[in-house]
Amino acid sequence: MKKLINWFLILLLTVLVVFTAFFFANSETPSTQLKSSQQVLEIMANGGCVSCHTENPVLPFYAKWPVAGSIIRKDITEGWKQYDVTAVTEALKKEEAAPEADLAKLEEMIEENEMPPLQYAVVHWGSYINSAERDMFLNWINEQRISYYTSAKTANEFAMEPNQPIPDSIAVDIRKVALGDSLFHDPRLSSDNSVSCASCHALNTGGVDNKPFSEGVRAQLGGVNAPTVYNSVFNFVQFWDGRAATLADQAAGPPLNPIEMASASFDQIIAKLTEDKAFTDSFLAVYPEGYSQATITDAIQEFEKTLITPDSRFDRYLKGEKNVLSPKEIEGYELYKSNKCATCHVGVNFGGQSYERLGLVADYFKDRGTPLNADDKGRFKQTAKERDMHRYKVPGLRNIALTFPYFHDGSKKTLDEAIDAMMHYQIGTSLTPEERSSIVAFLNTLTGEYKGQLLTNDNSLKKN
Ligand code: HEC
Ligand code: HEC
Ligand code: HEC
Repeated sequence: MKKLINWFLILLLTVLVVFTAFFFANSETPSTQLKSSQQVLEIMANGGCVSCHTENPVLPFYAKWPVAGSIIRKDITEGWKQYDVTAVTEALKKEEAAPEADLAKLEEMIEENEMPPLQYAVVHWGSYINSAERDMFLNWINEQRISYYTSAKTANEFAMEPNQPIPDSIAVDIRKVALGDSLFHDPRLSSDNSVSCASCHALNTGGVDNKPFSEGVRAQLGGVNAPTVYNSVFNFVQFWDGRAATLADQAAGPPLNPIEMASASFDQIIAKLTEDKAFTDSFLAVYPEGYSQATITDAIQEFEKTLITPDSRFDRYLKGEKNVLSPKEIEGYELYKSNKCATCHVGVNFGGQSYERLGLVADYFKDRGTPLNADDKGRFKQTAKERDMHRYKVPGLRNIALTFPYFHDGSKKTLDEAIDAMMHYQIGTSLTPEERSSIVAFLNTLTGEYKGQLLTNDNSLKKN
């Protein structure tokens, strides 16, 4: 009997050794002769990334089996809900820029060795990503950053950071900027001449109104928090639900929005502007074709390109001024990265590059307990796709200390509350009070300069 047990143990051991050998070694590491993009494509093919991170994957044969099948089906639905690999696959095939948010997410996954999930790797020998493959993958991410995203002024040691400084300025037509500046502050864009863009996006209050919901004409309340106009030029689309592709498209919205400015039509606005001889003359000097929705919004867009806030203390740090941040602030930045904040709040604007679901790991709306309004649906409002439910354009975090209250529903009054909610609903862990205060300290370093002056918020003065 004892002999039998021994034999059995030896057999078990052999199976384990063979299994482990296959599990780790069978993965065919791409040739070092290949281009980095080809290497990554191979690693992703072996790793089954498309099986779980695309809309209509080809299901494996065992997906029909009762136990293994239900696990894999759950992984596939969950995986795609959380992350879509299509844009990266396309970029790799075409040798183009992959989106910055994808690079940050992939970096995180590869560094932490989290993908493919263990239960998948166990059934798919060879899908496991070995250390040589991890290096290839990370190398490609770095190449992408250097080619497409690293700012020219970034110090060498920060070239690969997921967040980068903003440029000092953007080329603009200053004559259009002057007209756009006037129009931005012009209440004639509203039906009763009471509300201008600046009513909700005042430049001396962080480009926001510091109210949960904005007040339009006749004190009507909107259903969503006003994001800042500062640095909005760096967002990949505009509005929480991304319904405007450009700043000019965006600027066409508020004037006719019945709650915000409530003008009947651009013709109504143009009729009022035409009565103003001086302004009309200067407008015609720049736009000989005269007033139209297109020319008015073009001028506003040009003005908005100047609403950028370079040289925050954090930007100066990235540009090489080592001592401009305190150890606590640097610690805050490290915590910001290690807690995955930068996988969504990525790039020069610390966001504004992707849509993400609010409530990845816990149900935000259930906990909030109040009825859903149309704006709570996020991107779903535009696409009617289930996957886009509660998915928002990630807000940028520049000047975040000035743009309270936070979240699309304006429900978080302080940065501490916003960070706690992010940890709970997006990450699924929590911070110690010291860690949180370091992240707050770091976020405070993102306040930049407008026209050479540190941006301040007149409402913060009142608040104190
Ligand atoms: C068997 C299905 C499956 C496979 C194969 C798989 N994933 Fe995933 N992936 C998931 C699931 C489920 C999640 C979400 C839960 C989690 O993080 O574990 C996820 C999460 C991710 C995320 C995180 C998104 C975020 O918001 O943080 C990335 C990035 C990712 N996967 C990339 C990959 C890559 C790259 C591969 C191929 C090497 C891969 N995955 C293979 C199922 C899969
Ligand atoms: C009544 C208040 C109000 C007025 C007036 C107003 N806005 Fe807004 N603005 C908002 C709100 C609220 C949002 C968010 C709406 C949404 O995402 O659905 C917004 C969004 C924006 C955004 C998008 C920023 C981002 O990160 O997505 C820009 C840019 C902007 N407004 C510029 C303007 C301009 C230009 C005007 C004048 C033509 C204007 N706003 C008039 C309240 C206002
Ligand atoms: C999976 C993506 C994701 C991750 C990870 C993430 N965020 Fe967010 N963050 C969002 C989205 C989406 C919103 C908008 C939520 C809303 O307003 O309803 C947001 C909003 C915020 C806001 C409020 C911004 C504003 O203007 O209202 C702050 C501050 C913030 N996040 C900080 C953080 C910090 C700090 C971390 C890391 C602990 C983090 N986020 C991690 C996606 C993410």
